[in-house]
Amino acid sequence: MRLLVCGGAGFIGSTFARQRVSEHGDDVTVLDKLTYAGREENLREIAEEPRFRFVRGAIEDPDAVAAAIETGSPEAIVNFAAETHVDRSIAEPDAFVSTHALGTYVLLEAAREHSLRYLQVSTDEVYGSIEQGTFTEQSPLAPSSPYSATKAGADLLVQSYFHTYGLPTLICRGSNNYGPYQYPEKLIPLMILNALHGDSLPVYGDGMQVRNWIHASDFAGAIGHVLGHGQPGEVYNAGGPDEEANMTVVSRIVELTGAQESQVEHVSDRPGHDRRYSLSSEKVRALGWVPRVRFDEGLEQTVTWYRENTWWWEPIRSGDYRAYYERQYGRSLQP
Ligand code: NAD
Ligand code: TYD
Repeated sequence: MRLLVCGGAGFIGSTFARQRVSEHGDDVTVLDKLTYAGREENLREIAEEPRFRFVRGAIEDPDAVAAAIETGSPEAIVNFAAETHVDRSIAEPDAFVSTHALGTYVLLEAAREHSLRYLQVSTDEVYGSIEQGTFTEQSPLAPSSPYSATKAGADLLVQSYFHTYGLPTLICRGSNNYGPYQYPEKLIPLMILNALHGDSLPVYGDGMQVRNWIHASDFAGAIGHVLGHGQPGEVYNAGGPDEEANMTVVSRIVELTGAQESQVEHVSDRPGHDRRYSLSSEKVRALGWVPRVRFDEGLEQTVTWYRENTWWWEPIRSGDYRAYYERQYGRSLQP
């Protein structure tokens, strides 16, 4: 297949692009704005492949989108492009609105103009928090942060293009991802790098919030599966096989890195913090997809990857991320 992968220089988008080029022989054009989270290094393994090309541009820019379509002649658009960090959406929501609302609209219009299949990558956070049980695709949307609210808005717009214009759209909602190449603002890489550097490990509130963890290679696989086998107009949830409380995750990282329990520090809770996410994946499993990586094994491999790939995170940890960390946590990172 010829694919236009928007946001393909980020964590999951690059995992998907590598998987499609290396394992499926697809032709992939990545369109990415290269925000702080987008890094061409994430695509290093496939950069020289003749079936791969990179275009720098924003999804809310119709000219950039037209140029990427011209370059790649895609049969489908897969949209990962997003602002993805809840804490940043609380501090500065503007880019979340423009990328998710306007950006998704521009891509949908381009898909309509060129008669392309369209897959929107979304999140379990659009359903809000669930104390008990698990969300299905029928659960109402009840997002609680500017991140999840704008993601939910984008999902609704995507569905309107199916109902109104008959555009063959698909939505795939994933649970919390982890694995190599994840920007260190997110829980798991933040805790791994802080643990390795002797920094404190900032746990929000009581740390008993629960997340449903999926390895990024499994989520990328689910997206590919939905793209190939999904029914247009439908939503598919892809949740990981394990749910863990944040404190359990952090303690396991302390163990795997040889850090000290005394590095763990409970800090002020995130405003509007969702207590638990849990996703039922029966519908995508019925299409033949299964997650392969259990959390224990995936976390250990992820710690090893961060230990061995200092080339990847050193420029981040010594760059703008330091200033972000100071703003968010009110303290500096160790050099
Ligand atoms: P990420 O922050 O690592 O990467 C986002 C990418 O999008 C970056 O390369 C960035 O440069 C690019 N981008 C941002 N705004 C853009 C714009 N306006 N135009 C073009 N490119 C732009 O994110 P991620 O964790 O890889 O998430 C990818 C997608 O998966 C998002 O849509 C996110 O909502 C969804 N998702 C993420 C998770 C998770 O746990 N990380 C879980 C479920 C769903
Ligand atoms: P995060 O990785 O930001 O993902 P999300 O908010 O999308 O689930 O956070 C995962 C969980 O970890 C969430 O409950 C918030 C918590 N958390 C901390 O306790 N400390 C931190 O420094 C961060 C970044 C997250």
